[in-house]
Order: sequence, then C-alpha cells, then structure tokens
Amino acid sequence: MPHHTASLLVIFGATGDLALRMLLPALLRLEDDQLLPESLRIVCCARTAQSTDAFRDQVSEAFKKNGVASVASCPVLLDRIEYVGMDFGSPEAYATLASVVGELRTGDVLYHLSTAPSWYPVICEGLKSAGLIDDGCRVMLEKPIGHDLESSQAINDATGQAFAEQQIYRVDHYLGKDGVQNLLALRFGNALFEPLWNAQHIEQVQITVAETVGLEGRAGYYDDYGAMRDMVQNHLLQLLCLTAMEPPSQFDPTAVRNEKIKVLQSLRPIVGQELATHTVAGQYVEGAIQSEAVRAYSDEVGHDTRTETFVALRAHVDNWRWSGVPFYLRTGKRMSRRVTEVYLQFKGIPHSIFPSATDQIQPNALIIRLQPEERISLSLMSKTPGLDRKGLQFSQVALDLDLNSAFEAQQKRGAYERLYLDALEGNGTLFVRRDEVESAWAWVDAIIAGWAETGAKPKPYAAGSWGPSAAVALTERHGHSWRE
Ligand code: BG6
Repeated sequence: MPHHTASLLVIFGATGDLALRMLLPALLRLEDDQLLPESLRIVCCARTAQSTDAFRDQVSEAFKKNGVASVASCPVLLDRIEYVGMDFGSPEAYATLASVVGELRTGDVLYHLSTAPSWYPVICEGLKSAGLIDDGCRVMLEKPIGHDLESSQAINDATGQAFAEQQIYRVDHYLGKDGVQNLLALRFGNALFEPLWNAQHIEQVQITVAETVGLEGRAGYYDDYGAMRDMVQNHLLQLLCLTAMEPPSQFDPTAVRNEKIKVLQSLRPIVGQELATHTVAGQYVEGAIQSEAVRAYSDEVGHDTRTETFVALRAHVDNWRWSGVPFYLRTGKRMSRRVTEVYLQFKGIPHSIFPSATDQIQPNALIIRLQPEERISLSLMSKTPGLDRKGLQFSQVALDLDLNSAFEAQQKRGAYERLYLDALEGNGTLFVRRDEVESAWAWVDAIIAGWAETGAKPKPYAAGSWGPSAAVALTERHGHSWRE
C-alpha cells in the first residue's frame, strides 16, 4: 500500500491530559519549524459539546500553562483545528464526523486514538460503519494496549477488524526519543561495538528507568496497572529489544520489527522458583527526594494496596548471541533520581600482568544514558600517574561524550514530534507491531500470575532510595552490582 503524507489528522480524546500537555504542543513545535504538511487540517474530537472557538481557547490556555504560548506559529496551528464534540458510542456522531472529514479531506487521513483504550474498539467500529476507513487511512493507538495478553488481543482483534496491521501505529513514546534511536545509531552506525556485542565479551547488561515522580494524579489508572504493566511491558522491553536484537538488514518497519520480535520470543519465562530469585516487586513508603518529604504510595492512593511501584528482574535472552548473559531490568517511581540508562559491562581481562594491581582492574563498561541528558561513556582502566615503584597503579577513567554539548546547536526534539511526523508520512518503523505487544504481554503476564500465586506483597522501599534491598541481592548473588 503506497503511503502519501496525511492531509487530515483526527485526534480522539483531544481535551485529555495527553493531548493538551504533549500532543498539541508537539504539533505546535512542528508547525513552528514548518514541518507540518502545508494543507494539514486537524479535527479534534472529545465528549464535551463546545464550539471550535471555545476549543481553540482551551488549547491556548493549555499552551500558556506549558510555556509555549509565545511560539509565533500559535495562531497558524489553531487555525488548522476544527472541533467536533461527540459521544464516541453514538453512530449518529460518526455521521457528523463523516461530513466534517468529507469536507476537509484532500489526501490520506491519520486517526489518533488518545482515549481510554476501552474506547478503541468502539471508535474503530464507528469509523468503519460510517465509511471513514479506506486504504488511505492510518490509526495511531496510545498505550496501554490492554491490561494483559487476553485484553490486548481483544483490542488488537477489534482494531484489526477495521484497519489492516500495516495501517495500525501503536505508540511507545520511548521509541520517539532521540536517545533511544541513538541506541540504534550507536550499534549500527559504528563498526567498533558489534563484534563485542555478545555473550563472549559481555558479562551483564542493566536497563534502568528510574523516576522521581509519583502518581501525578493518575491513582485510578496506576493502581490498576503497577510498574510491571505500566513500564516493563512496553518501555523497558522495547529498550531491551533494541539493545539485544540482531542487526536488521535495513531501517524499515518490517526488518526492524522482525528482529525485535525475535528477542521477545527468546525471553526465558520466569516461573516457579525463579520468581523468588529473579524478580523483585517493591512499593514506596514515605521518604524524601532532594530533601522534600514524600508520602507513601498507599497514602497517595488512599488505601492499602498491593500494586508494585518498583520492579527489578533478572532476565535472559535465550539465543546464541546472549546465552548466559543476565539482563537486569529495573524501574520505579519515587526513586533517588531520574535516570534512564543502558549499561553493558564487559568481561574482565583474561590474565593480569600487574600483580600489584589485579584488584584495581575493573571490567570495562559502556554506559548509554538516555535521560535526563544524553551521554555515552566508556569506562577504561588507566595508569594512575606517579612513580609507583612497587608496581603500576590503576584508576578507572571515562571516555565521556556529552551529546547535549556535542550537539548544542541542534534543537532538542520531543518524542511526539518524531512520532507524528512518521505517522503523518506513513513510516511505521518506530511503532510497535501486534506480535510485539502480545509477546511482551505473555512474558509479563506469567510473572504477574506467579506473584499472585505466591501471594507475596511488594517489598517496601523508602521514597528517594534505589528500591528494596532485595533488588540489591538479585544482582549481588551473581557477583554483579547495580550501577548507581
Ligand atoms: C508512561 C508511563 O508511559 O511513561 C508513566 O505511563 C511514566 O507512568 C512515563 O511516568 C515516563 O515517560 P518519560 O518520557 O517521562 O520517561
């Protein structure tokens, strides 16, 4: 199916937090750089009955709150927007939408579903019945795609009734981040790393997504999901895929996603005894972050709950490349600081010719930091300057590349700017395919089911710490330590 740049973007859930805080500001930045298709019109749909003018005012207000109201192109973007108030469950509403779409459409259409996912089947059915879907349409779906494998299959089946798989663009906003794409650039734009990128040379891999924020007013959603469903199922497993996958033959949707799915299919299920030794669930209790007192999770939620706000896992990718290499995954809310990092520790030297310093020689490591700043650092051993007459002394030093300063002149781009451009242009490489979502759910579901069976409660950790002490034991038991 050849793709043409979309000339119409229809956003469902346009008065929601995501739309006002992330989506419309991303469109504004694209507008300001004249990156939006010239003829693009944007139809914003939500339940509230209001006029286009009233909605445009609402967007202006949101821009003020986000500090982007002064962007010169604000009026140009607002001018592109039409508002349609509709009850997503009512067939008549789609007839109204159809007349608006009919009037504005001059080419491809991109639908973007940013509502609660329970609406996805209903909206897809509504669009289909109103004759609003053809080969020139695509649909972007926000996470969460389901709460487990079964519910994700139901959503995928329902959206699949209306759109072909190549027309469905499932968002994992981590894939839109420059730092995440840089993982691919680093691996496949350099010849240096690939020969070392395997079990022969790598001792362990750690993927950390630590946040300092707590619930951010999302208690209803979060308490039902927890860190495993909210973060591991999508963002962490996507980072794992990009780190562990084989080189795709080209940077296109099929080749890249074919390699990612193989990683997910090679993940060893964590079941039985291993639940106790390879997984840790935690929940924060009161503590302090940067000297600010922070309440316990259960206080924020308002009742006792078993939802985990922290997860640490020891995972294995059972294939030739990674046989025996542990992938430690860790994510949590209310942790000591915000950091997203991939850390690869190489094997130690095979033989020391410096008996006086054998203990000082640490294995090399490559650290790819994605957030809050982008940085690549390679730790090496160096001779400590001096006469050291009893033998050479060693210190660890870093080849440190601060990408923010290296590319100071370049504008930083938000994830949604990239994702919108790609979806408008019909490039699905940075979106998630159905089989990936479902494989990830199957792996995560087994762990969650195992936890439910053992009835173990998440382990408490103080807000502002690096998680429960059991997470330390998870690595130390194998002679590894978390990078902090
Ligand atoms: C979202 C999760 O997908 O990602 C949130 O639902 C989380 O709980 C967020 O805070 C983290 O994204 P980022 O871009 O701030 O790292």
